[in-house]
Amino acid sequence: MDLLLLEKALLGLFSAIVVSILISKLRGRKFKLPPGPVPVPIFGNWLQVGDDLNHRNLTDMAKKFGDIFLLRMGQRNLTVVSSPELAKDVLHTQGVEFGSRTRNVVFDIFTGKGQDMVFTVYGEHWRKMRRIMTVPFFTNKVVQQYRAGWEDEIDRVVQDVRKNPEAATTGIVIRKRLQLMMYNNMYRIMFDSRFESEDDPLFLQLKALNGERSKLAQSFDYNYGDFIPILRPLLRGYLKMCQQVKEKRLHLFKKHFVDERKRIASTVKHADSTKLKCAMDHILEAQQKGEINEDNVLYIVENINVAAIETTLWSIEWGIAELVNHPHIQQKLREEIDSVLGPGVPITEPDTHKLPYLQAVIKETLRLRMAIPLLVPHMNLQNAKLGGYDIPAESKVLVNAWWLANNPAQWKNPEEFRPERFLEEEAKVEANGNDFRYLPFGVGRRSCPGIILAMPILGITLGRLVQSFELLPPPGQDKIDTSEKGGQFSLHILNHSTIVAKPRVF
Ligand code: HEM
Repeated sequence: MDLLLLEKALLGLFSAIVVSILISKLRGRKFKLPPGPVPVPIFGNWLQVGDDLNHRNLTDMAKKFGDIFLLRMGQRNLTVVSSPELAKDVLHTQGVEFGSRTRNVVFDIFTGKGQDMVFTVYGEHWRKMRRIMTVPFFTNKVVQQYRAGWEDEIDRVVQDVRKNPEAATTGIVIRKRLQLMMYNNMYRIMFDSRFESEDDPLFLQLKALNGERSKLAQSFDYNYGDFIPILRPLLRGYLKMCQQVKEKRLHLFKKHFVDERKRIASTVKHADSTKLKCAMDHILEAQQKGEINEDNVLYIVENINVAAIETTLWSIEWGIAELVNHPHIQQKLREEIDSVLGPGVPITEPDTHKLPYLQAVIKETLRLRMAIPLLVPHMNLQNAKLGGYDIPAESKVLVNAWWLANNPAQWKNPEEFRPERFLEEEAKVEANGNDFRYLPFGVGRRSCPGIILAMPILGITLGRLVQSFELLPPPGQDKIDTSEKGGQFSLHILNHSTIVAKPRVF
């Protein structure tokens, strides 16, 4: 009897092994997966490669496995592409196939499972959201409507820094003041409103909640539970925190900004119907027409808070750091502005187009210090082909844009901060993706629509600072620290450095 049971068990085990070998053979024949480290059951490659999938670690892996490789992170497939040709395939040639986004467990919470625009899959909802957001945010008309506001904001920064005696002596963390400026630049567009000072209680609340959102979402700490579903219960506390931050933020957006704008708009309508609309007026019109719902409105505000403010601020901060650490480049830029505009004549948006060295400094900052070095993760909804390999449906696809722009096989001394490259050997390369080696804003369907605002804001801000001050490291230091801090797909400066800003006298 016992022998019979044993025989049956062995037979069962034998059949299970045969079936699983057959399945894996069939799979192997069906799928030619990209190269990569050999995965182990349940964990995949997670134990080998760890949590920190930043652009530098992924570059090292590309050197080992090639321009396309696959990582199995627990249950999730991650394909990384690292050549201009493959980037073109993902973003342009097969832009529809790879035009969706993955969300992990945390982004699911912050975006209401894709009720926003940035993290939604490629399809009807995305098209509608992108169309609704284009007129109020992403046209040259918006730039012309708001540029005076941005010029005013940097003017106020210059005045505040001049008034602060520490700025010219021991130095200040100028980023703090510039953060207020960036919020004001975007809140003027969104709500026709601004915050008076860094101590404004509403600004402090907003800044704190946005900061928590960024930290929670960009952290690697929750990867284990996202990759390996059986570990997900251990994330309960983390996800609860995310849920609370999300609810508080959306409530704040609604109560203090969206509802407030509705109230103002209803009174203005009667008093002065010719007054220019702000973005929220357009968005609320779309809601009234039934094109989107109230949640979508709040997620648009959420998207602008993360996609527009921090990215541009990080780029400004990197630009300042490079100018401080390269005084001759800073001086050359100052001389260009002085000679084209005249000393002390404040730079305006139309001036930025007349200043090629300023444009080159901005491009070089975005090349070496790319704020979104892996772009926002893409995804294929269906099985797809890439570089001769099969990419299983719903794979996360990362384009290592930082490596494309910093690969010595493609660029002359890429580790060097040298704006001249964009006036010399790379003079034809623009930030809008006309060259697949240089994609700071991506390219194609899911590329950054905010480039139209970001470039002039960077130009006005960096130009005005260099015009008004000599930017130096603090006393006793000859350089400021430019260590990097990467996140799920972000890259910013690790330490917000103290900078001396010596006012220029005209
Ligand atoms: C220096 C500043 C900025 C940089 C470096 C930057 C970079 C990027 C990158 C790399 C992407 C993803 C592209 C892709 O996945 O293929 C992106 C997407 C996006 N950006 Fe920006 N961005 C900046 C500023 C802005 C601003 C100012 C706004 C809005 C006013 C904005 C709004 C967006 C939106 C809405 C998306 C998602 C587009 C979509 O999924 O269809 N960005 N950005």
